[in-house]
Amino acid sequence: MAAEIIDGNSIAKQIRGELEEEIKKLKEENNTTPGLAVVLVGENPASQVYVRMKNKACHDIGVYSEQHSLSKDISEADLLKLIDKLNEDSKIHGILVQLPLPEHIDESKVLYRIKPEKDVDGFHPVNLGKMLIGEPGFLPCTPFGVQKLLIYSGVNLEGAHVVVVGRSNIVGKPVANMLLQKQKDANATVTVCHSRTKDLASITRQADVLIAAIGRPEMITADMVREGAVVIDVGVNRVDDPGRKRGYKLVGDVKFDEVSQKCRAITPVPGGVGPMTITMLLYNTVKSAKNSAA
Ligand SMILES: NC(=O)c1ccc[n+]([C@@H]2O[C@H](COP(=O)([O-])OP(=O)(O)OC[C@H]3O[C@@H](n4cnc5c(N)ncnc54)[C@H](OP(=O)(O)O)[C@@H]3O)[C@@H](O)[C@H]2O)c1
Repeated sequence: MAAEIIDGNSIAKQIRGELEEEIKKLKEENNTTPGLAVVLVGENPASQVYVRMKNKACHDIGVYSEQHSLSKDISEADLLKLIDKLNEDSKIHGILVQLPLPEHIDESKVLYRIKPEKDVDGFHPVNLGKMLIGEPGFLPCTPFGVQKLLIYSGVNLEGAHVVVVGRSNIVGKPVANMLLQKQKDANATVTVCHSRTKDLASITRQADVLIAAIGRPEMITADMVREGAVVIDVGVNRVDDPGRKRGYKLVGDVKFDEVSQKCRAITPVPGGVGPMTITMLLYNTVKSAKNSAA
């Protein structure tokens, strides 16, 4: 039987609607408008697209946003000065530095300079540490989006065996840690796999919830998935498609056509995890504004 499609666009829309209400309330009751500063260094076309999408998403729900577009030759010291200024700016509740940065700039140094209270990307070690010990902070947007997709789709994580394939700092490790927490909407038994894992399929087949964050087009095939599992595909991969005007199409890390015949529910690519990432950035920005108004 074909799987239920976990519709990231629709869940993202629902959450953005909820955020819009909270923003109205913040404006009325606290005279506070959530504000996001997006810092873009250089002219990487993909980064420019992401930044445009983030600004538009802010505008659509009533979050103030400002874009700081800097030359690729900006010095690290000048970039840090801008971060310091934004850290002190009371209309800015969230600071996002679009990655990658040019090679002469130390990414960690820049990300660590953002005050943890304004780190709406959730990449600051203080926030990552809080996540690890189960204290409130900002959660990184893509893994947080994965958790929300599971919650809004009614997947019970309590005691479920979640298998995460991928251990990057931005997806695999944080999502594994979030779902492991002794907390509501988590409490799963989590196994993390990576490129050195032996007999990957024997582990993925044990998953009640399988999360693929690998970056390898359609690597997860039907024989690697248990009948009735829930499959979350974080992967976004470009593969050649001469039939299309742009010459490529986007596919996930999961072979959707065959896996969707076997599992209970699955996210498509595009339209699954993707729309949730920006939504959780908005969520974190609103949360930061609420913190500052409290
Ligand atoms: N939708 C979104 O908003 C969003 C956001 C972020 C990322 N993504 C996508 O998610 C995917 C993963 O991103 P990432 O940044 O986490 O990638 P990454 O940093 O390259 O990490 C990939 C992980 O997959 C593991 N891996 C690679 N080949 C494997 C194999 N054959 N078997 C088992 N594990 C293997 C790697 O293992 P090792 O650690 O051993 O190298 C690594 O841990 C990419 O397609 C990316 O575009 C999407």
